[in-house]
Amino acid sequence: MTDDDAAAIPDLEIPTGFELGVATSAWQIEGDLAGRGRCNWDDFADTPGAIVDGATGDPACDHVHRLEEDLGLLQWLGVDTYRFSFSWPRVIPEGTGAVNSAGLDFYDRLIDGLLERGIAPAATLYHWDTPSPLEQAGGWTVRATAEAFAEYAAVLAEHFSDRIERWATLNEPWCPAFLGYAAGYFAPGRTEPDAALAAAYHLMLGHGLAVDRLRAAGARSVGIVLNIIPTVTDDPKMAEATRHVDGIQNRLWLDLLAGRGIPEDIRGNCADLTDWSFVRNEDLPIIATPIDWIGENYYSINRVVSVEEAGSAAIGQDASMFPGAPEHAFSPRPPFTDMGWEVYPPGIVMALEQISEALPGIPIFICENGAAVEEDNDDDAIRDPIRTRYLHDHLEQVLGARSQGIDVRGYYAWSLLDNLEWASGWTKKFGLIRVDPDTGTRTPKDSAYWYRRQSVGRNA
Ligand code: FCB
Repeated sequence: MTDDDAAAIPDLEIPTGFELGVATSAWQIEGDLAGRGRCNWDDFADTPGAIVDGATGDPACDHVHRLEEDLGLLQWLGVDTYRFSFSWPRVIPEGTGAVNSAGLDFYDRLIDGLLERGIAPAATLYHWDTPSPLEQAGGWTVRATAEAFAEYAAVLAEHFSDRIERWATLNEPWCPAFLGYAAGYFAPGRTEPDAALAAAYHLMLGHGLAVDRLRAAGARSVGIVLNIIPTVTDDPKMAEATRHVDGIQNRLWLDLLAGRGIPEDIRGNCADLTDWSFVRNEDLPIIATPIDWIGENYYSINRVVSVEEAGSAAIGQDASMFPGAPEHAFSPRPPFTDMGWEVYPPGIVMALEQISEALPGIPIFICENGAAVEEDNDDDAIRDPIRTRYLHDHLEQVLGARSQGIDVRGYYAWSLLDNLEWASGWTKKFGLIRVDPDTGTRTPKDSAYWYRRQSVGRNA
């Protein structure tokens, strides 16, 4: 039945060698707080009002206890690869020191289960869950967290490097740095722009230190995942603000990776907020250690306007997230997803272009793309044509960019499962597979049937 509904959206021709996958992250799905240390997001979730519906990290999707079922769903989807993240506090509960062997066992079962099913594991080391003791000691605002992160990377690579296809150090460092420490919208809920700038820098230092430790322990392919968001304006008066937003959102990370350091304009515009004394020149080559690939998570674009022309609210688009910028606002254009994000498929090509211009010669993977949208529950199916259309239109753009010569090698849909959408809790659903928050029951949506046809069809 549902196969027929998914048929309304056309199939795409997926070239041989182009990988299709789905993605998740640890805190959003794992649950099982009893089996790990606490993290910044557990503490944030305990703060009244921080997570809109009061959701907590346990049970989330109860993935730890439903591992076999979730592996079965991945196999049914027919994907080539699965992107997941390690929970730092499941591996090293206090952030430094003793390793939790039961935590390593869980990831052994996950990784071996993927390999048995012919699915390539792609692992992220940090998808925003900082062990609580480290957060309490300053989190990413202090250099010690970057050093602890490198130790954690070494533990993982020593144990798993023979079985993991691709390693990512960080997921979207802009989010923990600026949503976490400047806007207070994410854990740890701090609203200190200077702390956000230090956090951004130490995240990237942690990345660079970890690349070295991963390689030394045998990791074959090491990269990082960014959320480059094309940032545009139609208003010449907003050119300077647009440049600054692009600087904080995009150029900061790309320039550091390319060995150009922190962009001069960002240094200057933020000089009233920080003296940048945390930057050490000898770190810059470490941060720019060559990587094997780069990941891009694309959802929407930033349209910068004057404050008088501010448009509807979109999560993640707020001047407090761009410290040092001249006064500005955002104005996304319809159609919108449930996050308030503009649906703009050509933007995914703009992001690919910005990355390949900044870091020429590095293969790119789309590591997340997807939409929280309205869904209809029939008795026997979950109708989500807007999501299927979104996935189709973005993947089509990516394949077009590839045929124009951009070296993009794969695409991961976000997400395998409905899950805890950070500060939005269960209220925003991105899954190809529905998860009932009360019972944990999994039900594939029409979009899952469509995506399955793209992967299984090609692999048949
Ligand atoms: C990205 C995050 C991912 C999920 C999607 C919707 O920024 O990496 O965990 O929340 O947005």
